[in-house]
Amino acid sequence: MMFSLRRFGLHGGVLCIASMSASVANAYSMNVANCPGYTLGSLVESSNGLTARLTLTGPGCNAFGQDIAELTIQVAYQSSSTLRVKIFDTAQEQFTIPESVIARPSAPAESYTGISDLVFNYDPSPFAFWITRRCEPDAMPLFDTRISSLPQTPIAPLNSSDPSTAFDAFPLIFEDQYLQVASALPYDTNIYGLGEAIASSGFRRDMGTNGGTGTIQTNWNRDIKDPIDENMYGSHPIYMEHRFNEITNKSTSSGVLLLSSAGADIFLQSPPDSNVSFIEYRMIGGILDFYFFSGPTPSDVIAQYGAIIGYPMWQPVWGFGFHLCRWGYSSIWDVEDVVARMRAANIPLEVQWTDIDLYHAHRDFTTDPVNFPGDEVARFVSELAANNQYYIPIVDAAIAVAVNSTDMYDPFTSGVEQDVWIKNPDGSLYIGEVWPGYTVFPDWFSANVQSFWTEALKNWSELGVGFSGIWLDMNEASSFCGYSCGTGANFSALVPLDESGRVLTAWPECYNATKWGSSGNMDIDGVSTNSCTTNSTTTTTVVKRDIAAGQEAGFYINDPPYKIHNGFGPLSNHTLATNATHQGGYVELDVHNMFGLMEEKTTHLALKELFPKQRPFLISRSTFPSSGKWTGHWLGDNYSKWQYMYLSIQGILQFQIYQIPMVGADTCGFYDNTDEELCTRWMQLSAFTPFYRNHNTLGAIPQEPYRWPSVAEASRTVIAIRYALLPYWYTLFANASLAGLPTVRALFYEFPDEPELFAIDRQWLMGRDILVTPVLTPGATTVEGIFPGRGGVIWRDWYTHAVVNATPGDLTTLDAPIGHINVHIRDNAALLLHHCPAYTIAETRAGPYALLVSLSKTGSALGTAYLDDGISPPPTPNRTVTFDVANSVLTIKTSGTYVVESKLAMVTILGAAGPCVVTVQGQLVSTWSYSASAEELVVYDLAIDLGEDGTNISWQ
Ligand code: NOJ
Repeated sequence: MMFSLRRFGLHGGVLCIASMSASVANAYSMNVANCPGYTLGSLVESSNGLTARLTLTGPGCNAFGQDIAELTIQVAYQSSSTLRVKIFDTAQEQFTIPESVIARPSAPAESYTGISDLVFNYDPSPFAFWITRRCEPDAMPLFDTRISSLPQTPIAPLNSSDPSTAFDAFPLIFEDQYLQVASALPYDTNIYGLGEAIASSGFRRDMGTNGGTGTIQTNWNRDIKDPIDENMYGSHPIYMEHRFNEITNKSTSSGVLLLSSAGADIFLQSPPDSNVSFIEYRMIGGILDFYFFSGPTPSDVIAQYGAIIGYPMWQPVWGFGFHLCRWGYSSIWDVEDVVARMRAANIPLEVQWTDIDLYHAHRDFTTDPVNFPGDEVARFVSELAANNQYYIPIVDAAIAVAVNSTDMYDPFTSGVEQDVWIKNPDGSLYIGEVWPGYTVFPDWFSANVQSFWTEALKNWSELGVGFSGIWLDMNEASSFCGYSCGTGANFSALVPLDESGRVLTAWPECYNATKWGSSGNMDIDGVSTNSCTTNSTTTTTVVKRDIAAGQEAGFYINDPPYKIHNGFGPLSNHTLATNATHQGGYVELDVHNMFGLMEEKTTHLALKELFPKQRPFLISRSTFPSSGKWTGHWLGDNYSKWQYMYLSIQGILQFQIYQIPMVGADTCGFYDNTDEELCTRWMQLSAFTPFYRNHNTLGAIPQEPYRWPSVAEASRTVIAIRYALLPYWYTLFANASLAGLPTVRALFYEFPDEPELFAIDRQWLMGRDILVTPVLTPGATTVEGIFPGRGGVIWRDWYTHAVVNATPGDLTTLDAPIGHINVHIRDNAALLLHHCPAYTIAETRAGPYALLVSLSKTGSALGTAYLDDGISPPPTPNRTVTFDVANSVLTIKTSGTYVVESKLAMVTILGAAGPCVVTVQGQLVSTWSYSASAEELVVYDLAIDLGEDGTNISWQ
């Protein structure tokens, strides 16, 4: 993982060529071999960067489109840490993400040109650029497109049946339907991000080293049961590199965003016999709009990215409660029964959800008149509200087409009147197919779509569906026809899809259905791991029906010449066809990856208008850069498998990089049946992730946490911990919304110079201070975890407060019986907690606070808490409370205008030496106890006002 760059000699590649079949070697390379590159001229420097022309140096190669003869490059030093390099066709005919979709900061008033951390360097001909750190001009660049920096000889296709995965070093290629640029990277460097992905290599992406095959990250959003190593619901062309210098034992992080919605393949590779790795972007349209972030820490990179695309939305505090959902509730009374049984089992339930079962004929904005009548739904929701509980329904992206003249479905007809549906190129309605049968799709670019969507949600709410938030599904957008279902199709021929008979029979690895039956109940102690299998990917069958109208001359809108590695093959499979047409002249080919983002923004703004005094709450499936401004995300259709529980950790870590911190998995697993042990472990794990929802599919056995005693018991325990930690979560999320800081952190974010942490994705940190080490395998009673800090950091057990006897830099074995998840507190920390976790967040917040201090070896600790009402959209009164410990004195500093009603009732100091006296505000108190074995001082019966500045507690 060292970052020296060896220039490549010819001998390295000759062998590769010899081992390739000629046809395979040539198929990709022939197209790009004669690409001439560009020459830079007409350079004009400005106070914050430069502008120049790039002119095609020779005849175009027209590899997968038409070479564009003249480009413009703009380089802008956005801040001391962020540099933008934008290369676009001078005629500005290529698709560019409109500011109305993603607003970006304009060029700064002050000049950072001479002081930025980053420096733009270039060769004029063939044009190439490289980005260096100002303080390390001679180090290997952070990004380097020079041919000389890349492997000098062709590299065989990764897969012999797929010649398009061959590589060669070429100058910049910029065509109307194909853009290619590559950068050298240090051999086997640490790359994270580039999703949405479930990577078999783990959170750290596969660079093609150490036996790995490298990464092909395809950006083309699609509706697919969570696949491994394939494109899925969202696209996030941002990566973070964590570069470790083995000579100095120091590391620095940087980041690169290519802000483009084009379909793309992004390769990470390390050629054989080379000691340089590289990233190569191949885009099927758009422009090259790069942002480089200097870090130097991982959290800095994430925050710098957030400053460009927008920090995440503020979450309502109830959003951190426990959420329950399933597809397959039979009626509103069934849902009501679930809520009652949660209460009877004393398992806190904050938010009850309903899936498409709610709908009449699977149509958005309706309720089923028989099983979910509107007045009953209204009654149910108001009873929830009376108990401080919340309700969230699903909204699918596609809207049913009214099947005949007697079919009254207002959302469709008023959408036609207001002209808000996506069209075919000939102006007719674009027709797809989803659960309700034939559908249309909102055109988020259309002039009236905001008012239309707001009105639809308003009407639904008035019908009785008193939602507190919205769940956005199927918004890649999913359509079950390959291409359009055909203009003028016989609408009445297709009725809603009926899956009511579905029964799932698959189980988690190691569940023995012959022995234990079909309830998921099991003899947990008797689990055998011998027969476990861990691979459970599946494929989806797609039925191709019809290609819609309109093949535009000279531009392959239906079938772009370069074939990205879309898991469904043709781009129009199982989604809107690439020629679907939006207002403003946009075509689906260019804007496909932003459908989800634009729906999220429209829905968020609708909720703000409907409920101006409340923060919107949204969870959505398809995301794109800046989605976090409008929504949270769940990790889609996973499986009830141990493997998927583990994989959920990398998903949660990835979405922190993408600035969508409110993220979580379908706890206990979505597809297939879960079982008691897996559900116990998953309920425990997800309690320490931001979005905590148990969701289940149609036809699977029920998996509400009260179904098994062990799951119920474990759930009560971890939800109480989660609610105790709520002020900490809330502060982490405030720091995300205020400054873009990640809420969940990979261990190396906090300990960047410890290479043994770079691939750790079986543990994570909540913020700085809480380390979570879940059990991820069946039948386990212990778990291995690493305790970062190499012995220099004290880690204390959450439950016993005992100091962990950790093996520095290596794995430590911890007890982990079925009811227990390991949670540890870092030293030098002061955590504000809720003292009395209750059934709901409102009741919990009404109770007193506690403070948990974990002292460092030198007796210090520091922590802050951000407090507000948790509901009103900022700017709203708030308060920041700082807890500072030094020399056996805790000082509480506070600022802000929010009035904190609840008092601080108890302070626990871990690592304190046994005191003789304890004072509060200089007054001796006797309300304290000390445990010498745990080095734990507890001061109780306090009533400290967190609005009062300067309160102190001392112990001597
Ligand atoms: C697909 C979603 O991913 C899943 O969560 C949902 O239950 C089904 N659609 C049915 O709405």
